[in-house]
Amino acid sequence: MKRILSGIQPTGHLHLGNHLGAIRNWVRLQDEFECLFCVVDMHAITVWQEPAELIANTREVAMAVLAAGIDPEKNVLFVQSHVPGHAQLAWIFNCVARLGWLNRMTQFKEKAGKSRENASVGLFAYPDLMAADILLYKATHVPVGEDQKQHLELTRDIAQKFNNDFGTELFPIVEPLIFGPATRVMSLRDGTNKMSKSDPSDYSRINMTDDAELIALKIRKAKTDPELIPDSVDGIEGRPEAANLMGIYAALADQELEAICAQFGGWQFSKFKAELSDLAVARLGPITSEINRLKDDPAYVDGVLRDGAERARAIAEPVIEEVYKTVGFLTGNG
Ligand code: TYM
Repeated sequence: MKRILSGIQPTGHLHLGNHLGAIRNWVRLQDEFECLFCVVDMHAITVWQEPAELIANTREVAMAVLAAGIDPEKNVLFVQSHVPGHAQLAWIFNCVARLGWLNRMTQFKEKAGKSRENASVGLFAYPDLMAADILLYKATHVPVGEDQKQHLELTRDIAQKFNNDFGTELFPIVEPLIFGPATRVMSLRDGTNKMSKSDPSDYSRINMTDDAELIALKIRKAKTDPELIPDSVDGIEGRPEAANLMGIYAALADQELEAICAQFGGWQFSKFKAELSDLAVARLGPITSEINRLKDDPAYVDGVLRDGAERARAIAEPVIEEVYKTVGFLTGNG
């Protein structure tokens, strides 16, 4: 059986990186796999969230996923905190994972920065919860952007150690699915930094809710170098801003980077940027209007999430029961 689980944090507006690195691939995989997609609000609170904003962002992320083309009947779309199994399994994984493994997680180091002593324990243990999200459903494949690769390796280590420790085959060893020309979309202000919800500058990212004018403005202001557009992939080397903008174009146009080099090689950036913003507006516009339409119908979205949670719980509960028995918890049924 092939089953997908993937997740996304409701920590702010979704951006082009989330879309090209993850959600767009989810849409393409939904015909081939049984899929669960999760809005991970429990992950979000590993750093401070205003409660009212968290609620609004949770709905908005669900809307963006629906607007991108995820069919809520064929797939299970739900909110993490609606399924108690995530927290239950995460605790067990806190006891399986080793401190040394978590100490190596680069995302924690980046997020905690210099104030490690002040970071929440949840932020440190975050990858255990992520492993629980996946393994609670015995998912076999996880489509993500490049930045989540290390967390998926940890998920594999946790599954392996659990299986070894308890002499079982309970958990599958998951395969990451990282593909497309935009597995790591970079900031529009600095081609060496990831495009991220937490960047203080809104000009660093294109949000899925930006209108055509704002998208065009952000692309016009995007950092570039003084050279012309390279005419071969080799020519992109050492030019992170060119690589980023051309990678975004390739992803939006559904073409290989080579084809984009052939098409635009020798052009001025200003002309290329005009083409890029037309394409971005054409591709993202319909999604943005669908998000706006769904915003007027929160009852529909809440209904989808309620139904999703019920279906997710139905898969998760027997797995928790199996895990509890395996670790030696005295279950209610004796
Ligand atoms: P999050 O919420 O940061 O991002 C959601 C998805 O978007 C991808 N992504 C990007 N892809 C390309 N370029 C970028 N600049 C970019 N920024 C984000 C991420 O790789 C991700 O696929 N820990 C996860 C959420 C999570 C999860 C899970 C994912 C929790 N449990 C279980 C998969 C399975 C995260 O913070 O993603």
